[in-house]
Amino acid sequence: MDIVLGLQWGDEGKGKFIDLISENYDITARFNGGSNAGHSIERNGKRITLKMIPSGIFMNRVQNVIGTGTVLDPVSFKKEILNLQLFDASLQPENNIIISRKAHFVLPTHKLLDVFMEENPDFTTIGTTKNGIAQTYSNKILRQNLRIGDMYAPDFKSRARYIIERDYKMLAAGKMTLPILEEITEEFLDAVDFLKRFRCTETEIYLNNALSEGKTILAEGSQAAMLDIDHGTYPYVTSSSTTAAGACSGLGISPKKMGEIYGIAKAYCTRVGNGAFPTELFDELGDEIRTKGNEFGSNTGRPRRTGWLDLPALKYAIMINGVTQLVLTKADVLSGLKSVAVCTHYESEDGALETVSGTLSENTRPVLKWMNGWEADFSNMKNSSELPVELTEFLSFLEAELGIPVSYLSTGPGREQMLKMK
Ligand code: GDP
Ligand code: IMO
Ligand code: MG
Repeated sequence: MDIVLGLQWGDEGKGKFIDLISENYDITARFNGGSNAGHSIERNGKRITLKMIPSGIFMNRVQNVIGTGTVLDPVSFKKEILNLQLFDASLQPENNIIISRKAHFVLPTHKLLDVFMEENPDFTTIGTTKNGIAQTYSNKILRQNLRIGDMYAPDFKSRARYIIERDYKMLAAGKMTLPILEEITEEFLDAVDFLKRFRCTETEIYLNNALSEGKTILAEGSQAAMLDIDHGTYPYVTSSSTTAAGACSGLGISPKKMGEIYGIAKAYCTRVGNGAFPTELFDELGDEIRTKGNEFGSNTGRPRRTGWLDLPALKYAIMINGVTQLVLTKADVLSGLKSVAVCTHYESEDGALETVSGTLSENTRPVLKWMNGWEADFSNMKNSSELPVELTEFLSFLEAELGIPVSYLSTGPGREQMLKMK
């Protein structure tokens, strides 16, 4: 099994890369997160953002697994499937999406509680996507949640109604303006009926049998290393395991079966939501990168914060994931800048320098190295020999610092805009 992971704060371009390489695999499999993900894919000049549907969906022969480590909101999933069919009427998602019976349901009250906590000053504001992700994972850990396989039980509807009503009453006591209970419950149950069109099974067994038969799997990470519940910039993180180890536990596949680990990173950094971001740009340059890179959340539309590439954080992400191949995206966005910066170290209060770190705070001071910028027309570039010399030097510098090669360079949002480097 190979794995694709984000190495920064998400939105590195995972979806585009997976859409491209999934043709080499029999199965793609999401192992973490839920509809908080937004993986944008461009096909035939049209663009779609996938939230829960794995990014191999456009390959008819590829099976797309929604694994055990994920949380599934049936209401959002139903909308996504209908939207997918509008995008490409030739697709038959019922035939090539398989859902884990052990994945967890996001209930409507989880989403309302997410909104409540985000908007109530008594709680830390994370800047979540308001998809009820933390509330679902916390109910999973509390062992109070409903799983996909439960929907086949004869008493499922009454259990779901009971839990939704119980939590709704709690929210109502918090003086929150709420939608009508009966409406959200019916919408949920209707979407659960829709979900039954899909094959729901023990995906661990399905995936391990597939490997035994010599089939190939590409695990699809959502979010990214610096948003990992354990290793990210807590508490400003998501609530799942976003790492290579998370792929093993989220899919029920042994670490012995791991192959290539593709880490995706932008040539700069972005972040949506709150939390430390040492290299953040607050000036016009930051705005320029946001505009040129179209850095607006593919899921929520929020403007993404922008900043320079952060090597201490990237080294940490490469280390905890054991990345074997680096995929660098969006260097084209920096085209035209006279010079570009890279953070090589963090400097602490007492002047000590850190070259690898996952501990970032508001006080982390980045030490920047300035390099020559590049300028080129990336739109139709087909070969790495066409790259401007300044970008080649930038890539060599990164490879020397990070200790791994840049295997692919993405040169634009289009499917074909990808250079194989090594
Ligand atoms: P994901 O969450 O990691 O799949 O990334 P998103 O889809 O949320 O955000 C990445 C955005 O950058 C999308 O709009 C992509 O179409 C776009 N993109 C991906 N790679 C490149 C690239 O190399 N250059 C440019 N200009 N855009 C890219
Ligand atoms: P993809 O897969 C970027 C961020 C949110 C917030 C924090 C917690 O497209 O890279 P959550 O809704 O998960 O409880 O929010 O995590 N976040 C993402 N940022 N890309 C994502 O996914 C994200 N998923 C969650 O903005 O800061
Ligand atoms: Mg995204």
